Amino acid sequence: QAAAGAGSESCAPPVCVLVLGMAGSGKTTLVQRLTAHLHSQNSPPYVVNLDPAVRELPFAANIDIRDTVKYKEVMKQYGLGPNGGIVTSLNLFATRFDQVMKFIEKRQNTSQYVLIDTPGQIEVFTWSASGTIITEALASTFPSVVVYVMDTSRSTNPITFMSNMLYACSILYKTKLPFILAMNKTDIIDHSFAVEWMQDFEIFQDALNQETTYVSNLTRSMSLVLDEFYSSLKVVGVSAVLGTGLDEFFVKVSEAIDEYEREY
Ligand code: GTP
Repeated sequence: QAAAGAGSESCAPPVCVLVLGMAGSGKTTLVQRLTAHLHSQNSPPYVVNLDPAVRELPFAANIDIRDTVKYKEVMKQYGLGPNGGIVTSLNLFATRFDQVMKFIEKRQNTSQYVLIDTPGQIEVFTWSASGTIITEALASTFPSVVVYVMDTSRSTNPITFMSNMLYACSILYKTKLPFILAMNKTDIIDHSFAVEWMQDFEIFQDALNQETTYVSNLTRSMSLVLDEFYSSLKVVGVSAVLGTGLDEFFVKVSEAIDEYEREY
């Protein structure tokens, strides 16, 4: 199994790491940090940017959707707003994704990881035909893992946390791929509170008891339903800004892929 730092020549196929998450959760910063980490381990990744609307990329992408599709032109040409422009840009790009696959295949002996940054608005990727086409093309050719980036500092309210977990769960259903929850921004707040909530139903209930909104009862029931999801979920706390948690991150990636290949 591929592991970071094993040198720049590899015979195993690269592992595709598909980075998804809510707008502002830190996807791009995490991809930047993972890229730097892998470079420092003498294992440069192949990096793909699928966000047509990003203004500046803090990393050098090997493939950048913006080189192929001009999002502002697409908006003008098709008379679309920003979201429609992003969806249409991704659709246009997906029609040529076979070429991207060829580029990645060519690099398969030199890169252990393919890192993929996705559009800011998560549903553009997860609920679009093009997102599905791209995900399936990658996952049918390479071992692939979905990384759901969560903004830990914005998930300290139990109801917000639950809504984030339901979203994560829906993405697991949608992609049916090995799945890792990256609790990001641990430099702001340690992720241990969230891990406790997932491991101990009663601690989560205690936190919920301080909530009096009408959804708190539903959230209580939901936490029981999600127990199964939590029990098999791979969780890692990271700070994309500080670069902490990355070794553990790559361990989880390897474990997730190994388990998936053993079971399916
Ligand atoms: P969109 O593409 O716009 O959806 O954003 P994104 O998910 O790619 O997030 P991005 O990397 O642009 O980060 C959003 C903001 O969060 C930026 O201001 C980052 O500096 C900040 N950020 C990202 N990761 C961390 C982190 O680990 N800690 C802290 N404190 N801030 C972070």
